Amino acid sequence: MKTIKASLLFFVFLAALLIGCKENKKENQPENDMVKTESAKSHIEKSAFGETPDGQKVDKYTLTNTKGMEIDVITYGGIITRWTAPDKNGNYEDVVLGFNDLDSYFGGVPYFGALIGRYGNRIAKGQFSIDGETYTLAKNDGQNHLHGGQKGFDKVVWAAEAESTDDGASLVLTYTSADGEEGYPGKLDVKVTYTLTGDNELDIQYEAVTDKPTVVNLTQHSYFNLSGDFSKDILDNEVMLNASAYLPVDAGLIPTGEIRSVEGTPFDFTEPKAVGEEINADNEQIKRGGGYDHCWVLNGTDKNFGLAASAYHPESGRLLEVYTDEPAIQFYTGNFLDGSLSSKTGGVYGKRSGLCLETQHYPDSPNQEAFPTTRLNPGETYSSHTSFKFSTK
Ligand code: GLA
Repeated sequence: MKTIKASLLFFVFLAALLIGCKENKKENQPENDMVKTESAKSHIEKSAFGETPDGQKVDKYTLTNTKGMEIDVITYGGIITRWTAPDKNGNYEDVVLGFNDLDSYFGGVPYFGALIGRYGNRIAKGQFSIDGETYTLAKNDGQNHLHGGQKGFDKVVWAAEAESTDDGASLVLTYTSADGEEGYPGKLDVKVTYTLTGDNELDIQYEAVTDKPTVVNLTQHSYFNLSGDFSKDILDNEVMLNASAYLPVDAGLIPTGEIRSVEGTPFDFTEPKAVGEEINADNEQIKRGGGYDHCWVLNGTDKNFGLAASAYHPESGRLLEVYTDEPAIQFYTGNFLDGSLSSKTGGVYGKRSGLCLETQHYPDSPNQEAFPTTRLNPGETYSSHTSFKFSTK
């Protein structure tokens, strides 16, 4: 009896081992096979998306909820390459600028859909000091440093882990930026969690820890075109920015240090206003940005998660709301787009065919003491929370 029991147990053990191997095999399936994670309310599919020029494999994850929203995220740059949102008739269409293939993302792309770091936006003259030590960064935007440098977080391959729960489909992206990478001090471990909820909301949680004092300012650089038609511009979108003040800039788009009221200026978006209404106004700041390319100081969102901005496309009825706990938002109207990049649908991305709402700390904070600090010390955790919510009206 005992021996029968023992051999039975042995067989159960063997079977378990075999199943275990099979499960492992699943993980190592040929790269083109889809891998699915799903719950009743969301699912994620993984597929191969190509290779970087230096041979790193890039995957694409498709996050889906039961309403029908789909978001494609690739591990290169954490880039959102496709994002479908419903119009007032329930038709889901792609509303973000990007490309269908990986190669199109190499070289000369203005940060379409990407995660931006270690420092989103500009640092004057590519220089800053911490505790008396000066650090030199790339001057990749005229005389200034922009969006993390030559090879910012938008151009690296992130590790990814997918999880589907009833709360949503989550993709956890991690990247370790070495001490000295792009000139920044400290080894920085970064974690970004994208969660697509059942409510057509993409929740983004950013976290980072360092082993030396450094500066961090992370953001997401999606260009939205709520019409779902990339041949159209965004000038008829009605934008609201929950901000009574903005940061005027110098000719190199570095904040002058002044915090200026928006009242009575083309920068007043406290009530929804068509982007095109004053974009060509005879205003020195508008001219400097070639349109809107400025940082607005949000009313009360600093550390207090709340509504920062919205964009509404009247014809389709699509409404995008942006919530954050960051103190500021860069509103950029795609002024530098010039039709030289081909769109996903066969046309080109023309001037102002997309708008960006980049939640963040103020540009050039490492050099401007009066601005909220972007310094991160060892033992502290950088944390930033933003969500993009779609609905119709
Ligand atoms: C940011 C900047 C803009 C521009 C774009 C990318 O939004 O503020 O000036 O550099 O990125 O083209």
